[in-house]
Amino acid sequence: MSFRASFITLYPEAFPGPLGVSILDRAREDGLWSLDLVELRDFGLGKHRQVDEKPAGGGAGLVLRPDVAAAAIDSLPKDNRPIIYPSPRGVPFSQEIAQNWTSGEGIVFFCGRFEGLDERVIEARNMIEVSLGDYVLAGGEVAAMAMLEATLRLMPGVAGNHASVEDESFSGGLLEYPQYTLPRLWEGRETPSVLTSGDHKRVDEWRNQQSKALTKARRPDLWAAFPHGPELRASETDDEHD
Ligand code: ADE
Repeated sequence: MSFRASFITLYPEAFPGPLGVSILDRAREDGLWSLDLVELRDFGLGKHRQVDEKPAGGGAGLVLRPDVAAAAIDSLPKDNRPIIYPSPRGVPFSQEIAQNWTSGEGIVFFCGRFEGLDERVIEARNMIEVSLGDYVLAGGEVAAMAMLEATLRLMPGVAGNHASVEDESFSGGLLEYPQYTLPRLWEGRETPSVLTSGDHKRVDEWRNQQSKALTKARRPDLWAAFPHGPELRASETDDEHD
């Protein structure tokens, strides 16, 4: 069964964008997923195909009409896919959400613009608001594409090396350790000698220690949530105290 991604948007020309290159493009050609676009403008009202109106109660900007939004949503076949509304008000997107979405039939993304979307259609169509982070984008397209990209690359057969998907930042609750390659000496900077020692146990220990130090320094929130079991504590190196 192929994963189906639908985007409802006023800007179909924004797609496929980065979803049309590299491993995601190959995966789409291989039939692992498909993309389709619904143009919100097609459901607009009157000669000008209007999709928005002034906010009730006054204020700046324009709000997308619920009848127009619902008509676009209802033009898609009824299925079990979640309808995601990317919005800074949403629950924070995460690797865990991406992981959950990979096992589903697909996703419908409703890409908003303007000041927002009438609240009634969010409720009536059970839309789930999801945020990419604590900042405001001009619209939902980039956020929707980022969420889909994070989801698709976790599907078996999409990323070439599944070990690299499992080993990376967040899967284990820690940030990824630093990487090095050739040349061993570049602009006076050397690759850490442990990495060229051939001692795999020491390499693993070094990487683990680096991951912990980075997480502690950059992401105290992740570090606080990391399970500090006694067995982990025992394997920690001397320069770490918490
Ligand atoms: N639309 C505008 N800003 C957004 C954000 N931070 N996350 C998701 N969708 C958005």
